[in-house]
Amino acid sequence: MRHSFDSRADSYDTHAHVQARAAVALADWIAPEERKGLAAELGAGTGLLTKQLQPWDGEYLVADISKNMLARAQVSLAAHKNLRYQKMDAAQPELPAQTQWILSSSMAQWLDNPQEALSRWRAQAPKANLALSVFVEGTLCELLDVLPECAPLTWRSVAQWEHFLRAAGWQIERAQEESFVCHHPDALALLRSLKGFGATAKGARVGAGALREGMRKYGQKYACPRGVRATWRVFRVIGRA
Ligand SMILES: C[S@@+](CC[C@H](N)C(=O)[O-])C[C@H]1O[C@@H](n2cnc3c(N)ncnc32)[C@H](O)[C@@H]1O
Repeated sequence: MRHSFDSRADSYDTHAHVQARAAVALADWIAPEERKGLAAELGAGTGLLTKQLQPWDGEYLVADISKNMLARAQVSLAAHKNLRYQKMDAAQPELPAQTQWILSSSMAQWLDNPQEALSRWRAQAPKANLALSVFVEGTLCELLDVLPECAPLTWRSVAQWEHFLRAAGWQIERAQEESFVCHHPDALALLRSLKGFGATAKGARVGAGALREGMRKYGQKYACPRGVRATWRVFRVIGRA
């Protein structure tokens, strides 16, 4: 696995500002009167989206591949008695056929074969609606420019995601791209923050000299009044079966 969320469950919420914003924006697309029926949230993490969607009228499955993330979710969501927790791989899930909503925020970019996963979700829950938000191309473009080895992922484009969704049989009812710009005191603080929420570098280890040089360049090219900037790009979708 290229991420290490399991070992970062305790520090995730402290660093996951952009994921929290993505979760709020996705939850805003599901009106209170639609928050009902059997729901399955895949890659729920510590429950940032789950919390936004409560109260939910019906059973709500909180699923994640990481047992430590699920344990954190269980603590922070203890007040909500309709939630059920399950360790589950979103690539090979087991969804009840009567599932009415499949929900997922800031997880699907980690899937090796998103089209296959989306097809399974669609086939297992043929009447479900889908609410998905995923990080796309443009995310951490500054880091990819000066220190590509330190980027946790190569993000797919919006066009690729639209293709995956349609090929998997989902009708795209509503979709939007949005950029969030975050600020960090310097490039080192950005790298620490990525590590803090479990997004581990995908590339080979960078030598100390190259890392220093990359961080210097980052500070020079992407300086802003609050330190340095880092762009995140989110693609948000409501899909219907
Ligand atoms: C960036 S966190 C997002 C968590 C939460 N949805 C949020 O918005 O804060 C990504 C989560 O996806 C989970 N994850 C990654 N790959 C997964 C997979 N194949 N199946 C289920 N969960 C997965 C990780 O364990 C982690 O909790």
